[in-house]
Amino acid sequence: MKVYCTKNYEEMSRKASNLIFAQIISKPDSVLGLATGSSPLGIYDNLIKYYKNGDLDFSALKTANLDEYCGLEKSSPQSYAYFMYEKLFKHINIQTDNTNIPDGTNQNTESECLRYDQTIYNLGGIDLQLLGIGHNGHIGFNEPSESFTHGTHCVKLAEKTINANKRFFDSIDDVPKSAYTMGIHTIMNAQKIVLIASGSEKADIMYEMIAGDITPKVPASILQLHKDVSIVADEAALEKVLKMGDNLPFWCEISLQFL
Ligand code: F6R
Repeated sequence: MKVYCTKNYEEMSRKASNLIFAQIISKPDSVLGLATGSSPLGIYDNLIKYYKNGDLDFSALKTANLDEYCGLEKSSPQSYAYFMYEKLFKHINIQTDNTNIPDGTNQNTESECLRYDQTIYNLGGIDLQLLGIGHNGHIGFNEPSESFTHGTHCVKLAEKTINANKRFFDSIDDVPKSAYTMGIHTIMNAQKIVLIASGSEKADIMYEMIAGDITPKVPASILQLHKDVSIVADEAALEKVLKMGDNLPFWCEISLQFL
């Protein structure tokens, strides 16, 4: 596990964008696993800039998003389909057919989960998965639980998650209570993983993820077992990790990038 510590959100976004840039340059038809939320916004802005400057071509790129709220139409401004279109897809030359997101309107949970797993399988799996992390350690919408999940499933959102996401809705009652999410097994099957985090409110969970026990109660802790994971986080998010100094687990290689 490589941990890159950056000064702030902007530098976190730059460093993580560079990793994605390298992936697309080396394999233009890569399958990128994408996340929504506040953390990746700076990265998406950078990718748009690379495209506009003529440095990146997205025409062969394929994407698979981590998750989608159940019950929201694609046209709903709070849906992740809408988020991806507004924040990234409409600004670059990606082919719509090459973008994939769980269908939150499919009420047949079993068929939607099978369909999405089959989609990822048909893509040949994920080359690089971008992840944010929830305050409770969720990745995608894999909430803390008693066991690690396998494929796509419908999850009841934790109270902490509903509270954290209410900022995107008019009121807390409007936040959907369930979502489709890629499973932990699918995420762990990605060839490379880049997890980003910014801000002191993520400091406790970053510490638990990197230096704590591997447990489904902190779903992101499973990343300690992945062969190629880069954590790109700012000083505030890594405050508690950095305090450990030489006592960090041996698998955690910290590369300080005070850019
Ligand atoms: C979003 C997702 C979530 C977020 C996490 C952090 O697609 O999968 O796991 O990455 O909730 O959200 P932010 O970045 O808003 O702090």
